[in-house]
Amino acid sequence: NYYAILMAGGVGSRFWPVSTSSFPKQFHDMLGTGDTLIQKTFNRLSKLIPSENIYILTNEKYNDLVLEQLPQVTQKQVLLEPAMRNTAPCILYASLKIQKENPDAIMIVAPSDHWIEDEKAFTKNVQDAFDFCLKNDALMTLGIQPTFPNTGYGYIEYNKTDENLAKKVSQFREKPDYNTAKEFIAQGNFLWNAGIFMWSASSVVKAFKENELGLYQLFEKGIDVYNTEFEHDFIQNNYAKAENISVDYAIMEKAKNVYVSSAAFDWNDLGTWGSLYDKLDKDSDNNALVNSQILAEDASGNMIRTTKDKLVVIDGIKDYIIVDKEDVLMIYPKSKEQDIKQIVNRVKALD
Ligand code: GDD
Ligand code: MG
Repeated sequence: NYYAILMAGGVGSRFWPVSTSSFPKQFHDMLGTGDTLIQKTFNRLSKLIPSENIYILTNEKYNDLVLEQLPQVTQKQVLLEPAMRNTAPCILYASLKIQKENPDAIMIVAPSDHWIEDEKAFTKNVQDAFDFCLKNDALMTLGIQPTFPNTGYGYIEYNKTDENLAKKVSQFREKPDYNTAKEFIAQGNFLWNAGIFMWSASSVVKAFKENELGLYQLFEKGIDVYNTEFEHDFIQNNYAKAENISVDYAIMEKAKNVYVSSAAFDWNDLGTWGSLYDKLDKDSDNNALVNSQILAEDASGNMIRTTKDKLVVIDGIKDYIIVDKEDVLMIYPKSKEQDIKQIVNRVKALD
C-alpha cells in the first residue's frame, strides 16, 4: 500500500548557469558522484516503496529527461503538468489518482533535489511516520534543527515536552520574514520543514477538501477519468486553471492535524551554490571542486565547477563561485549567491 510522489518540476534558478529552465538542477549530477539528483532520490525511495508505485510529477517539457534518467520507470508513472502551478495542484492530482487506484494508500511526497546521505536513518524516519499515518488521520512532516534565520524555509512549532515520535504541531509557518524567523529560533521549539511529507491518500485529499476547496473541486471533477485513456485530455484542458500555490500555503499552514518527527539524518536542500559547497569535500585550502582540477596560489573557500577535467588556474581569489559551461563562464562572490536568480532574467533580456 506504499506509494511515493516525487516532485521534479522546479527550475532551480539559483544554480544557474548549470541549472536552466530547459535542464533544471534535479537532472544534473550536482555533487559530481556520477548520479543526478533525481536518480539519487529515486534510489533512496525505492528502498521503501515498490518502484512501480513511485510517481514522478513534472512539467511536460521534462518528460524525456525523466524517462532517460530513470529507465526503470514507465510512462504511466510520469505525471505531466501542462503548466507550472507550484506543488499544491500536482500533489492533489497525484493523490486523487493514487487514492482511486488504492483507497488504503500511504505515501511519501518528496522533492527530487535534496541531499540526504544517511539512508538508514532516513528510511527509519519514514517507516515510523508511515506506521503513524496508518493509525491516524495525520499530515506528517520531517523537522530539521534550524541553525540560522533562513527565510526560505517553512517553520514548525511543537511542544518541547512532547516525547512522542510524532509530535503535534501547533503552528506551521511558511517562509516567515527575517525578524519572525529570528524570534522563532530564539524560542527554541521550532524546526525547519524539510519539505518531505507523509500521509494517507485519504488524509491529504481530505485536507485539500477542507482547506483549499476550489482546487479540490477542480481536480475532483476528473475523478471518473483518472487512470483511463481520457485522463490526458482532462488534464490538458483543466490543469492550467489551477491556482498557483505551494502545498505549504495551501494545506500545511491551515490544517489542524499536522505532526512532526525530528529528522535523524543530516539534510541539505541544495538550494544554492553555497549550500552545495558546504556538502562537498574540500581541498587543503577549502576549495570545493566538481569535475575540475586547480592550480592555485592564495585561493580559498571557492566553489568551482567546470565541464569535465578542466584545469582552472587562479591566484588571489577567495570565496567565489566559478562555474564554467560551454556557453557561459560565471565568476561570482559566494556572499551574493541569492542574486543569481535575478541574473537569469538579465541574461534572458540579452537574448
Ligand atoms: N512537479 C512539480 N511541479 N514540482 C515542483 C513544482 C511544480 O510546479 N514547483 C516546484 N516543484 C518541486 C521542486 O523541484 C522541488 O523539488 C520541490 O517541488 C519543492 O519546491 P521548491 O520550490 O524547492 O520549494 P521551496 O524550497 O521554496 O520550499 C519548500 O521546501 C523547503 C525545504 O527545502 C517548502 O516545503 C518549505 O516549507 C521547506 O522548508
Ligand atoms: Mg527547495
